[in-house]
Amino acid sequence: MSIILGIESSCDETGIAIVKDGRQVLANEVASQIDIHKVFGGVVPEIASREHTKVIYQLVDKVITEADVEIDAIAATQGPGLMGALLVGFSFAKALAYAWKKPFVPVHHIEGHLFSVFLGEEAPTFPFLALIVSGGHTQLIRCDAPHHYDILATTRDDAVGESFDKVARLLDLPYPGGPSIQKAAAEGNPEAFDFPRAMRAKNKTGFSYSGLKTAVLYAMQEGECNPADVAASFQAAAIDILIIKTRQMLAQTGLKHLVVAGGVAANALLRERLQNDLDVKVYLPPFKYCIDNGAMIAAAADSRLAHGLVGTMSSTPNPGLKLEG
Ligand code: KG4
Ligand code: ZN
Repeated sequence: MSIILGIESSCDETGIAIVKDGRQVLANEVASQIDIHKVFGGVVPEIASREHTKVIYQLVDKVITEADVEIDAIAATQGPGLMGALLVGFSFAKALAYAWKKPFVPVHHIEGHLFSVFLGEEAPTFPFLALIVSGGHTQLIRCDAPHHYDILATTRDDAVGESFDKVARLLDLPYPGGPSIQKAAAEGNPEAFDFPRAMRAKNKTGFSYSGLKTAVLYAMQEGECNPADVAASFQAAAIDILIIKTRQMLAQTGLKHLVVAGGVAANALLRERLQNDLDVKVYLPPFKYCIDNGAMIAAAADSRLAHGLVGTMSSTPNPGLKLEG
């Protein structure tokens, strides 16, 4: 049994949470910087670091007061992410671990997303296939046991969340693009444009989203078009390709359990198609734990701690950290 304080600060959310046994969230706070970065159309790294620095102490103090329990270990995102932003949470966590004489657990951001599904009602059982869909990653990962990852497919260019963000910018919709596109798409016709489904052939492994973004740009340059139709047709294509490649990988591996996590897992069309179009058991994180948060970091750290995978005071953040295991 362990109670872990998890800190996430890799990008534009300061996420702090206390989680019991990797499953039960005792306290959770997320300070989003969306309104600050919105005017720039994307995250400004230096501003992100400064904002994390401003709020981290108050948020940690708040969750500790709220949960009112003894903490067994402190965890923080090690990477990938923005160096300045990572340093704020990572150094804060190390300082707490040192002062409290508790283990310090560095966590890979994607492993955090993966473990966000354990915060749901039913925990997945190994082995499973994981579809990670975030602003920086689009990956299919085979997970045979906790912390054993085999990356089977990854994106060759843009990540799926990144393509939502870029297409939203083309359509003059607010950052972050995912929720804006989803909202605009609700009023549009998903069949108005036949956008490409890149890499759909069975013999092609991986994802590619930059061609889809370019196809949207060309369609918009060709003449007057209804933004809602563009958003709906783009969303349909972006989600369709996730379903196609996931179905192919499930058939290839024979795996019967699918875990889906990352910011794009909040997308309603994706959630609907996963339930309706795949004949495997699908595990999704609770909606609020799809986007970056501290609870997912604590959940992953609970398992790392149980497997003796802890860090030291000389551990450092790594903006280009690779998922290994
Ligand atoms: O996992 P996340 O919070 O941060 C990264 O690790 O990147 O994911 C953020 C990404 C952004 O690209 C955002 O546009 C996308 O997730 N996103 C969505 C939705 N909500 C967030 N994409 C599609 N539909 C959504 N509802
Ligand atoms: Zn993330």
